[in-house]
Amino acid sequence: MPLDGGINIGRTVQSAIYRDGVYGRRPTVPTDPDALAAAARRRMTRTGWSYVAGGAGAQRTVAANREAFGRYPIVPRQLVDVGERSLATTLLGRELPAPVLFGPVGALELAVQHQRGGRAAAPRNAEPALARAARDLGLPVVISSQASTPMEDTAAALGDSPRWFQLYWSSDDALVESFVSRAEAGGCEAIVVTLDTHVLGWRTADLDLGYLPFARAEGIAQYLSDPVFRGLVEARVAAASSEAAASGSAPSNRPTAAAVRSLLSMARHHPGPTLRNLTQPHARAAVETFLDVFSRSTLTWADLAWLRARTTLPILVKGIQHPDDARAALDHGVDGIVVSNHGGRQIDNAVASIDALGPVVDAVPDSVPVLFDSGVRTGADVFTALALGADAVLLGRPWVYGLALAGADGVRAVAEHVLAELDLTMALAGVSGTEQIGRHNLAL
Ligand code: FNR
Repeated sequence: MPLDGGINIGRTVQSAIYRDGVYGRRPTVPTDPDALAAAARRRMTRTGWSYVAGGAGAQRTVAANREAFGRYPIVPRQLVDVGERSLATTLLGRELPAPVLFGPVGALELAVQHQRGGRAAAPRNAEPALARAARDLGLPVVISSQASTPMEDTAAALGDSPRWFQLYWSSDDALVESFVSRAEAGGCEAIVVTLDTHVLGWRTADLDLGYLPFARAEGIAQYLSDPVFRGLVEARVAAASSEAAASGSAPSNRPTAAAVRSLLSMARHHPGPTLRNLTQPHARAAVETFLDVFSRSTLTWADLAWLRARTTLPILVKGIQHPDDARAALDHGVDGIVVSNHGGRQIDNAVASIDALGPVVDAVPDSVPVLFDSGVRTGADVFTALALGADAVLLGRPWVYGLALAGADGVRAVAEHVLAELDLTMALAGVSGTEQIGRHNLAL
């Protein structure tokens, strides 16, 4: 269903669901956010579900991100003419049908591949499915550095639909430059630098399964398709073979069934025929190279100048939770802020992201776009974030659940449900355009 400028989408989606109900058909993708997560959980394998749904430590930030929305109740208003409502907005100079983007989610193949009952689709189907949904709706996609599809393929699937690129700042400068120039060539309209994941959080669900997608070459397609990265892999393979020649011995590891599965996964993900990859050291060397160069914990604000000098695209920083960090970002040439705590995946018992939003909005000039994510599950949540001053919202886990349940249709359904509820919430709060939403709509 095209968004049609986001005009009264709530009624359209709601009527379609109730009309189907007359014929006994219920939504394949639940509208209730907990039912959506539960349905996805039933569909996904334990490793896939744990990676997507899990958070840091005792999961307190994941819970806090949700609970904190309760502190910002929305106030209903009556007898305002809200007969024609629009969700349309402008972000970084681009008109959008709604202030909603598909946030960057890495290792997306888990949603389509780690499925129970042998329903697996090829890893490279994940981002193209997202792209189809985004294109139908006209909402931007933030392409992840940890995608399961090379960014060029995702860009092609997006056609002329808007896209941004999310950057994990590698320890290798040339690789960062290569990612940025590929993103520019692929039509990305902004670079989102994620600052909060220079080390992975203590993710207990994944740790207890001993499972990290990247260690099996899942979610490293941007790297495997990159000429600079492939040069690093070649150098590692050459260094290892001359070392082995000097010591006169080949490294020996006793193979276990799990190790064989991991090797097979690496060989399948590596460019070229799987059989050849199994007999050569490159697939494994690529994973080791990735683990070496993924990030750098020595970055400081001053390093942003290096990136600023290398792209004319707007730069946003993601992971901001403190107003001083927002001010520092602007002082160092950044164009926009993403208030996020990575969906509670990094620090346990961290401040709820929605609590961090207002102070950040107050710390930056109105002209600076402030985006929000972490804990958004419903249209009412989007309304609350906009009321606190966000210019737009990134959707995270919910659309991944939709992807797991019904591919591109599932992603589109989740986004439509969120937008429909946003529209109906606006109608019932006496608001007919997103620009009218403000703190006056909340009982603070
Ligand atoms: C993420 N997130 C993320 N962020 C990012 O900048 N780059 C990435 O590659 C990823 N990968 C990723 C994978 C998975 C499985 C999840 C759940 C999340 C974080 C994401 O962009 C966003 O900040 C959170 O998902 C927001 O929290 P909620 O709304 O999902 O709770």
